[in-house]
Amino acid sequence: MADADILGPALAEAHLLDGYPLMEEHANAEWLFGGDVEKAWIAELGGNPVGHVSVVQPFDAPGLSGAVGAGYTRTLGLSRLFVAPAGRGRGTASALIACVEQYAAGVGAPLALEVIEHNAAAIALYERRGWSRINTYEASWFGENGPHPIAHLYLAPTRSTP
Ligand SMILES: CC(C)(COP(=O)(O)OP(=O)(O)OC[C@H]1O[C@@H](n2cnc3c(N)ncnc32)[C@H](O)[C@@H]1OP(=O)(O)O)[C@@H](O)C(=O)NCCC(=O)NCCS
Repeated sequence: MADADILGPALAEAHLLDGYPLMEEHANAEWLFGGDVEKAWIAELGGNPVGHVSVVQPFDAPGLSGAVGAGYTRTLGLSRLFVAPAGRGRGTASALIACVEQYAAGVGAPLALEVIEHNAAAIALYERRGWSRINTYEASWFGENGPHPIAHLYLAPTRSTP
């Protein structure tokens, strides 16, 4: 079975369970693999895909440039992180984030992400990995007539490459 045939339905489950992604119309493989993707990783357990994360570029958010500081020409965004409900609690998301952090360190770019305030497990995970919350605001991703969820902006700690 193709990755999309497994991860698409798993993302639909996450939408119902966690409200991620927020919009039902995004709870499919097309959205998961979309965006301005620079690189993406799929995690497998027992030979089956269970999780996904991507790096997007360009990435910007309210308050980001001030936090990153001068001297950087681009910031990478960690995006589309999710693990199928049946595969959670085994360190999969943490391993996916570690891949992204290592990639960003390798190219020498700051790494940031936005997360909706109700995605508590993800927030706990970012904070546990040492990410810093640098701003909170009403997100306008869905346009004037769409929902305006409260989002947090996080910046990855600076790690040296192994
Ligand atoms: C957030 C998510 C990716 C975590 O996946 P996971 O593979 O279960 O996470 P891990 O097993 O790597 O967890 C690592 C750490 O994250 C934190 N964490 C994960 N799930 C948690 C939960 N339900 N409650 C509190 N902390 C949690 C813990 O600190 C955990 O460390 P521990 O196992 O030592 O306690 C998963 O719950 C998910 O897909 N959620 C919906 C999608 C989402 O919110 N994405 C965020 C987009 S910005």
